[in-house]
Amino acid sequence: MMRLAVLISGRGSNMKALIDACLSDDINAEVVMVASDKEAAGLEIARRASVPAYRLTASNQAEWEQELAGLIDRHQVDLICLAGFMRILSPRFVERYPQRIINIHPSLLPAYKGLNTHKRVLEDGKTVHGCTVHFVTSRLDDGPVIKQQTVKVMPDDNEESLAARVLEAEHKLYPDAIRSLIEKSALHTPRQMAL
Ligand code: GRF
Repeated sequence: MMRLAVLISGRGSNMKALIDACLSDDINAEVVMVASDKEAAGLEIARRASVPAYRLTASNQAEWEQELAGLIDRHQVDLICLAGFMRILSPRFVERYPQRIINIHPSLLPAYKGLNTHKRVLEDGKTVHGCTVHFVTSRLDDGPVIKQQTVKVMPDDNEESLAARVLEAEHKLYPDAIRSLIEKSALHTPRQMAL
């Protein structure tokens, strides 16, 4: 069974979707820990689901990454899933876990990296939007795509309605992407690497 860590900074709805997918045997995985760089609402949701949930406290990047690596290694994590985690991981951290860090982003990457994707898609008059699960590099919203899902933009959409439709797609896409990683056995490197 694949052991997942989920990193969050906010409400944690994708985290919850992953916990639920694991609990319902939708994917052969278990969320073994959750960590957040903020007092996120998602931490409480994780604890209620009996998943160990940690608030990263160190203020400088080298220190919180060290703190995080300690937790990840202690929980023998196979795959690190970023779900609304609002910090960029250093090259040093990313290289420590090659092919083992993934992220979900609310756009069809490489289009619309960064924030406010729904607003920008509407401003540009696009008719198709979507979400992407991709491997993480130390560059923002970069790295090989694992899976994408398109979402139609409706003529009467506003930012809120479009965001809600994309989020619904995200909650299906993230477990699907992890399932396909498990099936492809893309993860074959040893679990713990020296920093
Ligand atoms: C999602 O839209 C995700 O794609 C983006 O941040 C948002 C997090 O939402 N990276 P939630 O915390 O999972 O509800």
